[in-house]
Amino acid sequence: MEQKRETFSSSTGFILAAVGSAVGLGNLWGFPYKMGSSGGFAFLLLYVVMAVFVGIIVMLGEMVIGRKTGKSAIGAYRMLCKKYTWLGYVHTNAVWLIMAFYCVLGAIALRFFVGYVQALFGASPFGDGGTSFYSIFKLNGWSMVLYLFVFILINILINSAGVTKGIERFNKIAMPILFVFLIAVVIYVAVQPGAAEGYKFMFGWNIEPLKEDFVGVLKSAAGQMFFSLSVGEGIMIAYGSYARKEEDLQKGSILTVICDSLVGIVAGMVVLPACAAFGKPFQGGPGLLFEAMQDIFSHMGSLGVIFGLMFFALILIATISSSISIMESAAGPFIDKAIEQGKPEKRKKIIALVALACFVIGIPVALDGIGVGTAGGAAIPTPAELFGVEVAGWSDCWLDFYDMLTEATLMPFGAMIMCLLIGWKLKPEMVFDEVESSGVKFRGRKFYSICFKFIAPIGILFVLYGQLSSFFGF
Ligand code: PHE
Repeated sequence: MEQKRETFSSSTGFILAAVGSAVGLGNLWGFPYKMGSSGGFAFLLLYVVMAVFVGIIVMLGEMVIGRKTGKSAIGAYRMLCKKYTWLGYVHTNAVWLIMAFYCVLGAIALRFFVGYVQALFGASPFGDGGTSFYSIFKLNGWSMVLYLFVFILINILINSAGVTKGIERFNKIAMPILFVFLIAVVIYVAVQPGAAEGYKFMFGWNIEPLKEDFVGVLKSAAGQMFFSLSVGEGIMIAYGSYARKEEDLQKGSILTVICDSLVGIVAGMVVLPACAAFGKPFQGGPGLLFEAMQDIFSHMGSLGVIFGLMFFALILIATISSSISIMESAAGPFIDKAIEQGKPEKRKKIIALVALACFVIGIPVALDGIGVGTAGGAAIPTPAELFGVEVAGWSDCWLDFYDMLTEATLMPFGAMIMCLLIGWKLKPEMVFDEVESSGVKFRGRKFYSICFKFIAPIGILFVLYGQLSSFFGF
């Protein structure tokens, strides 16, 4: 007999978990540096447009599919429309690959956090600022592997405790801490002389970059929106499957998108003004978070250690709240099966095995020095070296290789098919009915219908093109 599935115990629990999944390195790392290198305000403008017309739609679609079926991706499509079960596999493959590289990023975040704890006790793990701590750490492959292991252990502890006692409880404690730390760091940066330039760059009306390279900015904003919202790999299907029947999913999806976008913007309000105040270029690329911020904190004296600790604590929290959602959805199909067999206690074993797989798949990402290759001192070859191909965006390191398979291919492709499936085959009424089954009124039916049928799939097609073109350089 089918066992009852766990649920989030409250609306706040559900929304915080969804926000926790969405808020992660994508916001704190990706948003500021992409905004920095893709035109500041112009980037923000297109990001918001994409979030409204595509992000909210895909988010709601996934949550509805999850709650309606009470299953994670594979079981959900099998139940909704058997012919499309393969779409569940597309989502699930994406989530497995993301899990592997995201946990390596988590390992880096953990190392920085531990570094600030050491600094608090008087050690100076970050050296004299000559060679960046980040470059030294990423070349120390085995240390990366060790931190990867510890990071995954943290995930195991949370996920194996279950939806309410693990995931929900972690998010309920961690998310408020994250918001408080974020605000504290924003205020601290705001009082640094010279910070104003950063705000001007972010919020000053300047659409010049759109005139110069509209497609470039749109590509960057659209890709960012997708990754940052954790959509396109069935995570919100898994979380939706744990939502209670009385949950207002329309409100939940909108709130999640708003909170996620706000955190990205606020992260920009930390990093970019800090760069302005300490003479770092906005266009510093991916190094902006781990290199520029650490350098900035080290110039702030002893207060820098405290704010550095807070800043990297919030990054670690955000990374964990995302990685547990990834692990939950990767384990989802197996957990579904265990529940169907009346053996929900298998969760712990399943999580441990999924975590082990994540560790193994993540090892190449941890060992190739994030792109420096064997010539640069990495322990294993990059995909380009291994396959003997020219170095390109997709082949310069294992992280980018996995990223290309997921962010550039499986995620947008899966989300696009999901929208088309809802728009044309299952019909948007399926979404409206499921939302209204909670006793609330669905608002904006026309808008959502048009978005599911046309706007979101076309928008996602653009994400697909944009991502592939930047990975393959066309
Ligand atoms: N949204 C998360 C972030 O911004 C990353 C993520 C992507 C999480 C995909 C789950 C799935 O960091």
